[in-house]
Amino acid sequence: MGPGLGAVVTGAGSGIGRAIARRLASEGLRVVLADVDPAVTALADELGAAVAVGNVASEAGAARVFALASEELGEIDIWFGNAGIERGRGLATSEHEWHDSYEVNVLAHVRAARLLLPHWLERGRGRLVITASAAGLLTMLGSPAYSVTKHGAVAFAEWLSATYRHRGIVVQAICPQGVQTRMLESAGELHPLMTRDGIRTADEVAEAAWQGLAHDRFFVLPHPKVARYVQAKASDEDGWLAGMNRIQQRLGLTGDPA
Ligand SMILES: NC(=O)c1ccc[n+]([C@@H]2O[C@H](COP(=O)([O-])OP(=O)(O)OC[C@H]3O[C@@H](n4cnc5c(N)ncnc54)[C@H](O)[C@@H]3O)[C@@H](O)[C@H]2O)c1
Repeated sequence: MGPGLGAVVTGAGSGIGRAIARRLASEGLRVVLADVDPAVTALADELGAAVAVGNVASEAGAARVFALASEELGEIDIWFGNAGIERGRGLATSEHEWHDSYEVNVLAHVRAARLLLPHWLERGRGRLVITASAAGLLTMLGSPAYSVTKHGAVAFAEWLSATYRHRGIVVQAICPQGVQTRMLESAGELHPLMTRDGIRTADEVAEAAWQGLAHDRFFVLPHPKVARYVQAKASDEDGWLAGMNRIQQRLGLTGDPA
């Protein structure tokens, strides 16, 4: 991954996205930032980067970021689909929260891919790095909308990679557990769950993402334990579910339907 490449980072206004954007810029990549939070403009000033403020999950929002990045960068070499949300608790998660989770955590990646792939297939190269979550491989107690939609993000990334890897398209999924960001700070009763295996800093996740650009492997796992959990789940689903249920009972997470 050399200097001069052009990269887009969504959800760059905070946490992991901000750390990835800073890391890329420090390595000499040209970055375009996107976030729904206008505070992202401070980072754009710091990095001298172009910025799109708006919802990257909608079709129109994704198209705006794509157009700005194409103009600024000429070619988009890497797209970090990092924006994500965690909404709702248990079966009390509302229709609205399910809808928004699906839009941001799944459909944003679909919409970005629809814009990017025609160009990348013509060039014979391109890289999509999706910030999914360990919740997309395992589950997140207390948060069904997050668990389901992050599984959707991983599934879409797998589908893209399985379909296009022979045509020069690299797809990767970053799947962290707890990371010290605004999302973790606002996790409320999920905080003990998200931190029980140790937390990483956003800079550590950005470092893993940066290393991931060199190795091309599909999964980027900032918490190495996740690989062991996935193996345990695959080899004994019922044992894994029973273990998760014991954790649920200990934590007593709420969210029963009203
Ligand atoms: N923090 C963790 O413990 C953790 C663990 C695993 C995965 N993740 C994932 O990492 C990614 C980054 O999250 P974070 O922890 O840095 O949280 P964060 O809340 O600090 O940052 C997320 C950013 O995404 C932006 N965003 C959300 N929806 C958007 C939209 N529709 N359009 C544009 N921008 C939008 C937010 O404004 C925010 O700046 C998310 O996809 C999250 O699910 C986080």
